[in-house]
Amino acid sequence: MRITGELHGNLVEIRDLTPLDVLPDQSSEWDAWDDDWLPDDEQPTHHRAVILVDGRIVGTMSWHAVLYGPTAGSRAWSIGLSLAPNDRGRGIGSRAQQLLSDHLLQTAHRVEASTDVDNHAEQRSLEKAGFTREGILRGAQYRADGRHHDLVMYARTRDTLAG
Ligand SMILES: CC(C)(COP(=O)(O)OP(=O)(O)OC[C@H]1O[C@@H](n2cnc3c(N)ncnc32)[C@H](O)[C@@H]1OP(=O)(O)O)[C@@H](O)C(=O)NCCC(=O)NCCS
Repeated sequence: MRITGELHGNLVEIRDLTPLDVLPDQSSEWDAWDDDWLPDDEQPTHHRAVILVDGRIVGTMSWHAVLYGPTAGSRAWSIGLSLAPNDRGRGIGSRAQQLLSDHLLQTAHRVEASTDVDNHAEQRSLEKAGFTREGILRGAQYRADGRHHDLVMYARTRDTLAG
């Protein structure tokens, strides 16, 4: 998978993560994951990609299937991403989320993304990428502070694709 788009004169590219990729430090308060959070047979398959600007890796993206019913057409994709701190706030996140959702909407009717109610940068970034705010997922995410946090759900559907 390789997708390229323009960002203020720079080329933003998304491509599959390879074992040879050297990833930047993306440390942030949103990135604390449990290693063994679910048994292997309950783990969703996470697809992983890198985000590059003019050939330099600036962050990573992932996506997994979410099933809303027993029919093939009920499969949605849920996406997430993280950028290196120095590469935030320049429109890269919104461009990357637009490119990836454009691509995933070829194989599903819905692409969604949820983020903490306090993560205003990601909420704005999703809106710029063409996602619509749908509502609050109460207590959906358990975090390192020992509390369940509310998330905001955003989504794009296939009818928002240009052309
Ligand atoms: C969230 C993230 C992916 C967004 O990507 P980005 O390239 O930084 O975002 P963009 O530049 O596309 O858009 C950010 C928008 O939010 C705005 N913004 C940034 N911080 C903000 C804040 N604290 N409050 C309100 N708006 C904010 C910016 O002004 C910009 O809007 P504008 O272009 O209208 O001015 C990136 O910041 C990141 O990796 N953060 C850490 C990891 C993370 O939170 N991942 C998402 C987890 S669900």
